[in-house]
Amino acid sequence: MSSYVTRKTPGDTSWFVADRFGMFIHWGLYALPARHEWIKNRECIPEEKYQKYFEHFDPDLYDARAWAKAAKAAGMKYAVLTTKHHEGFCMFDSKFTDYKCTNTPAGRDLVKEYVDAFRAEGLKVGFYYSLIDWHHPHFTIDVLHPRRNDPDAFEQNQGRDMKIYAQYMRDQVTELLTNYGKIDILWFDFSYPNRDPLPGREWMKGKGREDWESEKLIATARALQPNIMIDNRADLEQDLWTPEQYQVTEWVKHKETGELVTWEACQTFSGSWGYHRDESTWKSPEMLIRMLVNTVSLGGNLLMNVGPTARGEFDDRAKNALAVYERWMHFNSRAIYNCTMAEPEILKTLPADCRYTQSRDGKRLYLHLFAYPFGHLEIRGLAGKVDYAQFLHDGSEILMEEGKVNHFSEGASQADDLLVLNLPHVKPDMLVPVIELFLK
Ligand code: GLC
Repeated sequence: MSSYVTRKTPGDTSWFVADRFGMFIHWGLYALPARHEWIKNRECIPEEKYQKYFEHFDPDLYDARAWAKAAKAAGMKYAVLTTKHHEGFCMFDSKFTDYKCTNTPAGRDLVKEYVDAFRAEGLKVGFYYSLIDWHHPHFTIDVLHPRRNDPDAFEQNQGRDMKIYAQYMRDQVTELLTNYGKIDILWFDFSYPNRDPLPGREWMKGKGREDWESEKLIATARALQPNIMIDNRADLEQDLWTPEQYQVTEWVKHKETGELVTWEACQTFSGSWGYHRDESTWKSPEMLIRMLVNTVSLGGNLLMNVGPTARGEFDDRAKNALAVYERWMHFNSRAIYNCTMAEPEILKTLPADCRYTQSRDGKRLYLHLFAYPFGHLEIRGLAGKVDYAQFLHDGSEILMEEGKVNHFSEGASQADDLLVLNLPHVKPDMLVPVIELFLK
């Protein structure tokens, strides 16, 4: 059994750390301008102008079952959908606002279709819910708000009452956790209590747990769904640590206690979460696979984002990226599901340009080759520990030698603890080939 123990938290993380790979979905009105989900902020778009996206939101090609099938085929085991992003638009039929999909040409509850479809495919279901809201009349204008540069921003703030907004969030979270059955993850986003105000506008403070009334908000969620996993972004520590858009180099630890925590890297295919027509920094197929492997090799999960189009489909670039995961996971998912960071003793033996993952029962070790070596790979410290070795993608035996490289290797590595894997000279047709080592 894996010897790694993570910090105990209120929610149920047991399924999560076995499933390892999920789909993030950023979908909202920002899919129409198609130039980043922060467009309302970036371009300081006033309400009346943003309204055109509301009026034209008509995702006629939306088929949640197709999304769910695509996620499942890619090897993803759960999903998290934006039920409301910072723009404030609700993708569900909320009683507490008119600013919702049922009042657009979409005319239906998009969250409901998502929940039904993903659940039908056997995937776990999560809700992203933005704490930030650039539409709600009581959300005060602050440093991130689209109205921050208005000369009369201060005056516009008079009469705005965050307490009313905090209640609105509790009401909506209540709806989300009451009307859609069991929800596995609640993903709040995000807090910025220490954000510097704009020069000359010192009253523009950031927002955090006091503003969201996070304790009450989370208590509301837990009362409805006690086992739900909640992230840390409401400025109150919960179950899930969420490093965003970068790859960590060690298992994420609790800041004060140093304990290992349950963590999930969130990443995008390109430089935007929402559908971005003209953005072209799409990650290479190799990077996509490496991110997943790297994450699991450090005991984490990967939440990989798709930004569907305004008509409700994954575009070809996203489909191609998912196909990369689909093919690799078809052959190699055994090295991902139910796997975690290799045991400390084993980790010491990690050869250069490789990653290890290890099954949580400790019996199998997976060696992921980021750079393909020539005819053999030397591993110091594994001699005597491996019973059998094979490529994972085709189950073909990999011959092993112990103690030395081969008869002709003058001055080559020679050590009692040396394990040598004899590999074919040509790299198998896998973005990252995996060798499965059955441990003694
Ligand atoms: C950020 C962004 C946001 C995105 C999120 C996902 O905090 O504000 O647009 O939804 O990260 O992690």
